Amino acid sequence: VRAGAGPRSRAPVFYNPAMAFDRDLAVAAIRSLWPADGPVRSGWEVTPATGIRGLRLLGETGAFSSFAFTEPGEAAFAVLARNTEGRSGAHASRMDGRRPPPGAPFDFVDVDPYGSPLPFLPGALGAVRPGGVLAVTATDMMVLAGAQPAATLRLYGSRPVRGRLGPESGLRILLAAVARHARSVGRVARPWLAYAHAHYVRAYFVVDASSSDPDPVGLIDPTTWDGPPVGDRGPYGPLWLGALFDRERVRRIEVPPTAERRRELAAFLTTIADEAEVASPFYYESNALAARLRLPLPPSIAELCTGLRESGFHVARTHARPEGVRTDAPRPVVESVARRLAAGRQSQNARVRA
Ligand SMILES: C[S@@+](CC[C@H](N)C(=O)[O-])C[C@H]1O[C@@H](n2cnc3c(N)ncnc32)[C@H](O)[C@@H]1O
Repeated sequence: VRAGAGPRSRAPVFYNPAMAFDRDLAVAAIRSLWPADGPVRSGWEVTPATGIRGLRLLGETGAFSSFAFTEPGEAAFAVLARNTEGRSGAHASRMDGRRPPPGAPFDFVDVDPYGSPLPFLPGALGAVRPGGVLAVTATDMMVLAGAQPAATLRLYGSRPVRGRLGPESGLRILLAAVARHARSVGRVARPWLAYAHAHYVRAYFVVDASSSDPDPVGLIDPTTWDGPPVGDRGPYGPLWLGALFDRERVRRIEVPPTAERRRELAAFLTTIADEAEVASPFYYESNALAARLRLPLPPSIAELCTGLRESGFHVARTHARPEGVRTDAPRPVVESVARRLAAGRQSQNARVRA
């Protein structure tokens, strides 16, 4: 049952077909991490609505022997109860997901709420078995991506980067918040697959017993920052300044046979496998570079990538923006390559016209 109402309620129950890609990715990510012939594991979907995400993980990965679902709403719980009935290993509880259900701790905990996941983090982090995985979605992008900076500061404790880099900044604010909450319950949470997509950001973390290594969380001071321009009203953050991807883990993710959006998922996996080679925060866009440097023509992205590689730097396209280029080259190098390419294109055009 995908949506509808409980027997005594006509309230709609959340079901978003557009999130099929994201559920495919969840199945793919867990399959790559925990093979079906490995030890049996337990999961908890904290905010399940119809339960489709957890039920797909239970049925399509082979990694789980049990999966708990917590849903307080009457209508949603009625649909959830029907969907989980007779499904071996599925246990639905009508309760608030801010507290763990019976069966904790779990190997995998998934938080996919309306808006901000913050209220669910303490309970979810405390319920992940050390070595297990926490997945967190946030859809409060007005707050995270910088349209409401006062709210970002109040809720997440960070100053956001605004504009085109806003979604990645939102992702990095969420990662910093999860890392901080993990420390507060004596855990450490390290993202291995973190992305901005459509109207949301989502990340998968390995959660471990506390480590003495500090989290790579910090501020960006625009007066000393030599990555992509973030604005001049900093400092920005605290942001997660470490990698968004664990290179080895991300490379192992494959499109599962049960995927609904095969092509979209395959393209995304190819992009992030390349992107995982470059851990630097934020990315450049050709048009924005041209506008900033007052170039008559934007450099072609392919040439920009080649030019930076030839200068000895890592470069990759980013999943976060079709035209975005992530690189570990310092900004002066990127700008000088862009200027050289623009000059080359201009003189080429002049020769064609002559
Ligand atoms: C965005 S929907 C979940 C979508 C689902 N994960 C999927 O993939 O289709 C958010 C759900 O969280 C539920 N919810 C809201 N507050 C909750 C709480 N305190 N505990 C557990 N679930 C809650 C809502 O009733 C709603 O069904």
